[in-house]
Amino acid sequence: MAFFKTNSQTPAVDFKHLPRHVAIIMDGNGRWAKKRGLPRTAGHAAGAETFRTIATYCKDIGLEYLTVYAFSTENWKRPAEEVGAIMGLLKKYLLEAIGKMERDKVKMKFFGDLSPLPEELRLLCEQTEEISKRYEGCQVNICLNYGGRDEIIRAAQAFATACVEGKADPNHLTEEAFSKYLFSADVPDPDLVIRPSGELRLSNFLPWQSAYAEFYFTDVLWPDFGKDELHRALAAYQGRSRRFGGIK
Ligand code: IPE
Ligand code: IPE
Ligand code: MG
Repeated sequence: MAFFKTNSQTPAVDFKHLPRHVAIIMDGNGRWAKKRGLPRTAGHAAGAETFRTIATYCKDIGLEYLTVYAFSTENWKRPAEEVGAIMGLLKKYLLEAIGKMERDKVKMKFFGDLSPLPEELRLLCEQTEEISKRYEGCQVNICLNYGGRDEIIRAAQAFATACVEGKADPNHLTEEAFSKYLFSADVPDPDLVIRPSGELRLSNFLPWQSAYAEFYFTDVLWPDFGKDELHRALAAYQGRSRRFGGIK
């Protein structure tokens, strides 16, 4: 495994004991651009490159699940021009990804309500998910028009509907059963949640699923987030003692 050895500046990662599921809030694109006197959209383009690099690397090291926050239910508040640029970058990414799926065999899923997206993008998301059904390898979940509270409300509605239809019983609802109504149904909870850009908050990202996640915060802005930074996050994770309320 020499190829994946971290260099001397970064802490050693035990690649045999990786977390199963890493989730990343891809934040700091705007500030990255501002620091360089560039428009915010240039930051999003740079952030998309980082996503390509990190997603490919996660697949190469054998990570089972990677979930990324690409666009939140709150991000519609941004100027239409910026929202349009982000949607355009997503479209470009998916067109490329579809072309490479046969080779990479990465399974892609989308968490979020796709219905308000531009039609072309929505269709590409659906096509990507459809092709992904053939693959078993690394699963990349892209949170798009995703909000954690929105996800829980939708799940509650779906569960209530199932109860009314006699297909579910409120007296037998368990955490496990409820989680099947979430966008993340059948995906294990994230073990590690990474937020770059210096912000110390979740911003509505996977609140249900992150109940027992380990968190890693860094001031590095997402477009500057490289393999070394990922190694730091993984090494920090491996140094944690996860007790889940018990005693080690
Ligand atoms: C994250 O970067 C990308 C999205 C939220 C779509 P930002 O655009 O939030 O970058 P900052 O936080 O303004 O630097
Ligand atoms: C969270 O970042 C959403 C994404 C990275 C897609 P934001 O930049 O939107 O979060 P806030 O506004 O700083 O909380
Ligand atoms: Mg931000």
